[in-house]
Amino acid sequence: MKSQIFCEHHLIDNLDKTGLFQQDDVPKVLFYDDNLQETQIKTLTQKIRPSLTIPIESCEDNKSADMLIRLQEILLTHKMAKNTIFIAAGGGTVTDLIGFLAATYFCGVTLMLIPTTLLCMVDACVGGKTAVNLLHFKNRIGTLYPAHHIFIDPQFLSTLPDIQMICGMAEVIKYGLIFDHTFYDYLKKSSNSFEKKDPHFLKDIISTSLQIKTDIVTQDPWDLSLRRILNFGHTIGHAIETDSQYAISHGLAIAAGMCIEAHISFARGFLSYDALEGIFALFVTYRFPFASLQSMTVDRLYPLILLDKKNSGKHPRSVILSSIGSTLSFDGNYVDEISLIEITNAINWFTMQVGNVYEKSCCDPF
Ligand SMILES: NC(=O)c1ccc[n+]([C@@H]2O[C@H](COP(=O)([O-])OP(=O)(O)OC[C@H]3O[C@@H](n4cnc5c(N)ncnc54)[C@H](O)[C@@H]3O)[C@@H](O)[C@H]2O)c1
Repeated sequence: MKSQIFCEHHLIDNLDKTGLFQQDDVPKVLFYDDNLQETQIKTLTQKIRPSLTIPIESCEDNKSADMLIRLQEILLTHKMAKNTIFIAAGGGTVTDLIGFLAATYFCGVTLMLIPTTLLCMVDACVGGKTAVNLLHFKNRIGTLYPAHHIFIDPQFLSTLPDIQMICGMAEVIKYGLIFDHTFYDYLKKSSNSFEKKDPHFLKDIISTSLQIKTDIVTQDPWDLSLRRILNFGHTIGHAIETDSQYAISHGLAIAAGMCIEAHISFARGFLSYDALEGIFALFVTYRFPFASLQSMTVDRLYPLILLDKKNSGKHPRSVILSSIGSTLSFDGNYVDEISLIEITNAINWFTMQVGNVYEKSCCDPF
């Protein structure tokens, strides 16, 4: 199923005009990130007119089986039936959780997403992946259940903390690295527009990202081959995130993961050293706070890297860039085994780069 995507500034103010929320006899449940502002929640409630509203505290601990059961109990207590529409307004944490809930409640109810973080607008809201975490395993239990409708209003970004904006850029830069050299070059020139939250720039990067992700997902809807390229940076990134017990956000962790995995492409002769340094420099330009990652070590990360879902047996696997803007196919697998030595060298290189930038500046350069 293909999601119907709407994307424009102030879309939320006009949500009622889409004609999708008019039927008062259809029960609607609005799940919203409890960090949204009062005015944003008020507008959502006025336009959607939900039968039930459920605030969700957005944190990885809540992307859990326990939380799913708690929500299912609330819904059943309120007699929400198969015809209920679930509307999830929030970042990727809320949309992943509610997406999974929608996929399983009465074997599947109508799902609408209103992403409110940059990361969710450019990535998590499309493609249909829904998931919860279990034990040490991130996103391991889930379904593919694309939302029926997605409403993207970049206006939500006006209240998003800067660090969350920066983390969202990780997935945007990823699209340039794995799929579109021209987009990567455009991002290299655009950090000023990003700093200013230029509305044209934001709309531009959201729509290009959505186009790229949709293109990839359409070619591999069941996540069996090409779609794995979307995991660039995630073999290492998820380990960093898990090691920090989610204190390091997803975007920051995968930004570091991309630099480290790009080093493996460099070590295999696919990227020049200039290109590798350019990738690191781009993340620094977008002010990724890498200084907080300076103390990470292979010893701590490797056992977690071995738990990665792309692992085929004994060895972890990663996406390998063939150049900026493309990846190696490995006979349609799109990932290759990476050795402990490659990982060690790459992590050491990354922490050294971070140290260099940090020490050169009298104040935090990030
Ligand atoms: N399903 C997918 O394809 C996919 C893709 C990428 C990431 N993800 C998942 O997405 C999650 C990360 O999502 P995220 O980066 O959006 O983080 P998040 O959902 O945790 O949100 C980040 C923070 O921003 C706050 N927030 C959200 N919207 C706000 C707004 N408009 N104003 C002020 N504060 C706001 C939240 O309360 C939270 O504190 C991870 O769990 C990751 O696994 C899923």
